[in-house]
Amino acid sequence: MTEQFDAVDVIRTKRDGAALSPAQIAWVVDAYTRGVVAEEQMSALAMAIFLRGMDREEIAGWTRAMIASGERMDFSQLVRSGARSATSDKHSTGGVGDKITLPLAPLVAVYGVAVPQLSGRGLGHTGGTLDKLESIPGWRAALSNAEMMDQLRDVGAVICAAGSGLAPADKKLYALRDVTGTVESIPLIASSIMSKKIAEGTQSLVLDVKVGSGAFMKDLASARELARTMVDLGADAGVTTTALLTDMSTPLGLAVGNAVEVQESVDVLAGGGPDDVVELTVALAAEMLAASGIPDADPAEALRDGRAMDVWRAMVSAQGGDPDAPLPQARESETVTAEADGVLTELDAYKVGLASWRLGAGRARREDPVQAGAGVLLHAKPGDAVRAGQPLLTLRTDTPERFARAREALEGAVVVRPSAPEDRPARGVVLETVR
Ligand code: URA
Repeated sequence: MTEQFDAVDVIRTKRDGAALSPAQIAWVVDAYTRGVVAEEQMSALAMAIFLRGMDREEIAGWTRAMIASGERMDFSQLVRSGARSATSDKHSTGGVGDKITLPLAPLVAVYGVAVPQLSGRGLGHTGGTLDKLESIPGWRAALSNAEMMDQLRDVGAVICAAGSGLAPADKKLYALRDVTGTVESIPLIASSIMSKKIAEGTQSLVLDVKVGSGAFMKDLASARELARTMVDLGADAGVTTTALLTDMSTPLGLAVGNAVEVQESVDVLAGGGPDDVVELTVALAAEMLAASGIPDADPAEALRDGRAMDVWRAMVSAQGGDPDAPLPQARESETVTAEADGVLTELDAYKVGLASWRLGAGRARREDPVQAGAGVLLHAKPGDAVRAGQPLLTLRTDTPERFARAREALEGAVVVRPSAPEDRPARGVVLETVR
């Protein structure tokens, strides 16, 4: 087959700062998926995009090309048949202690909305939703499309592994970006996330764009730009999209790991749980419900009265899990204590995530297993008064030789000052909304 373009010309165009044409973009993404554009050529192009950026039209074209590289799912028959009133989905850009999908999917399904959550495994310092759920005895991540559809009709919520057919160009490109220093590029992140979400075929989408040390976006201005880019891409594709910018300078909740995060999610579904996890779950649910035509719902009530828990139990059981089985516990633990009296002013999300990963909750290579019981429990959050000697963190693992490296990761993670700084007002976890 004669190729329409030459990869080197496409790379040079972007390297020299010009915009790529829609035809160049469609070709280069397709040719890369077919293996015609080599990995080293795509690495050069990804770096040129990282350094030069892309305009709105280029990003939209890149997203369309990645969608076109694979299959598109279609849940519209659930709505047409009257089984569900709408379909809605949520995506988080990834953070530490971010277990929100677990209580959120069943909570939104309470209101008759279908919530298909195609999720991934963890790589690096952020955990993976599937790794967390797999700590439930018997729970199965892989579902066929038919099983997914049945569960959405009967239960309303499903959290399962994304099949290999959705945006295969992104799978290849994401793995390449991971090893070429080209992950933190707004056009590449936005097109990566939105190609998968648009291919998934949901009617509405709520994005949780994390800001802070534990997130890709370290400052509010770049998080805003990423959110705006993704909301526009969604709107252009006919998906009602909103984004919440949320704080990821410190971990969400009091548990970071796998089984410990499932336990915290169950606490939230039982009407308890840490305030920040409840706040964010309810805020995202309210956005998803408003986008689904149910603006007056009170999702906090469905957490308090047990309706969300009922859907959670049905969702776990439908995927072979036993919602009543005890969760795995790590065999060993150590505590990190406060060195002085004062106020905890910082508990760094990235460092806690890294420590949890080193304790065995995450994986270094895709094929590595994770430890279900490993992770970090937090006993105080920024703003809390602490006393010298008081436990601040509990580190958990099955393999105690990991403690030393986890403690190294935590160096400088905890800051205790004599008093709280006056210039830092207390704020909630939701910082801004982008529509
Ligand atoms: N998540 C994705 O799916 N893609 C990115 O590029 C970054 C986060």
